Amino acid sequence: MDASTLIRKKRDGHPLTRQEICDFVSNYTCGEIPDYQASALLMAIFFRGLDLEETANLTEAIMNSGRVLDLSGLSGSKVDKHSTGGVGDKTSLIVAPAAAAGGLVVPMVSGRGLGHTGGTLDKLDSIPGFNTRLALADFRRVLGACGMGLIGQTDDLAPADRKLYALRDVTATVESLGLICSSILGKKLAEGIDALVLDVKTGSGAFMKKMEDSRALARRLVDIATACGKRALALITDMNQPLGRAAGNALEVIECLEALKGRGPADLMEVSRQLTAHMFVLGGLEATLAGGRERFNTVVSKGKALEKFAQCIAEQGGDPRIAEEYSRFQAAQHAESVVAPRDGCVARLEAEGLGRAAVTLGAGRERLDSMIDPAVGLTLEKKVGDRVEAGERICVVHYNNPARLPRALALIRSAISITNEPVDLPPLVRETITSEA
Ligand code: URA
Repeated sequence: MDASTLIRKKRDGHPLTRQEICDFVSNYTCGEIPDYQASALLMAIFFRGLDLEETANLTEAIMNSGRVLDLSGLSGSKVDKHSTGGVGDKTSLIVAPAAAAGGLVVPMVSGRGLGHTGGTLDKLDSIPGFNTRLALADFRRVLGACGMGLIGQTDDLAPADRKLYALRDVTATVESLGLICSSILGKKLAEGIDALVLDVKTGSGAFMKKMEDSRALARRLVDIATACGKRALALITDMNQPLGRAAGNALEVIECLEALKGRGPADLMEVSRQLTAHMFVLGGLEATLAGGRERFNTVVSKGKALEKFAQCIAEQGGDPRIAEEYSRFQAAQHAESVVAPRDGCVARLEAEGLGRAAVTLGAGRERLDSMIDPAVGLTLEKKVGDRVEAGERICVVHYNNPARLPRALALIRSAISITNEPVDLPPLVRETITSEA
């Protein structure tokens, strides 16, 4: 195929046909189309957009770039959750074990960090020995053994997304409704699920910063998933400040373990509870959201969700002792405090700036071949709305490479504002988008 014709067509604002999209995806996946041409097409798509039909065709092409799992042999509803990405957005490692402990099967295929946001696979890599690159037969075995499994795209499962996702990460082409939608659903529809709960982030740390764009993304995700025969629902949740207190891979896994012990920060617990509750309802285990929330509370308070996560870690080759012994995670060598410049109330902990700071420290990638440092990141000791006194600590920066610290500190300082006025918090869950609406 002539990739430059396709690039020109999209650049000039014309829709691509189903065949052109299929050819692009298969030729890029097998290496026939080089990264520089794929980058140019992604940038043309970024500026020109994809209409509903193109998005559906790209979703299908990504899904069909590998195998589509058939999990019909496993008993129980197969329900997954996926987030559009944020900072400190670690709910997968709480929601998946809680949902599995509550009776669902959760075949979760996740991505790596993208832009300033973290990725589930990078977080899981901080668990010693944990293997996210299971062959599909092993994934199925893990699902059968513990009702959940956490892997990334493989050569068998949505391989096109793995390549495109990595390329988008370093070519500033992430924030595109059509590309986000097809990336998420391309891999999720390959999982063999019955239902999907989507967490569409909105705010400064989200790819869709404005509510209207997040709503449009949520609507398109739900519509395409529903058209593909899945029960689907999206929550639009706040991403103006990081979710929870930690941003950085090992730090976030530890925060999730705390959450599974019932000791997570209130915002993280609430978003996780709400997402899991909807999974129980879509999966047919509960008739009401209140019932779903209660089921989440029960599996957490009885320790069943933590047990499930430890079981999954062991099944996937990891060291389950990390559930109790946090010293088994790699820790950063140095820590630096960022303190309040004056008395007042925290008005802003701007999530994108804090996410960029974490990436600068090595928690994410600045280039395709960047190495992730599992130990580095930030922990917030104050959240928006908290009162502070001058000199009181707001954030701890965990770092290994001192050369990266000044840029990270500059990003963090400019992400923080203190005000004299009391601060009203926006609701955590802004809207629910269902297939009927
Ligand atoms: N999550 C994904 O899986 N893909 C995107 O493009 C954005 C978030």
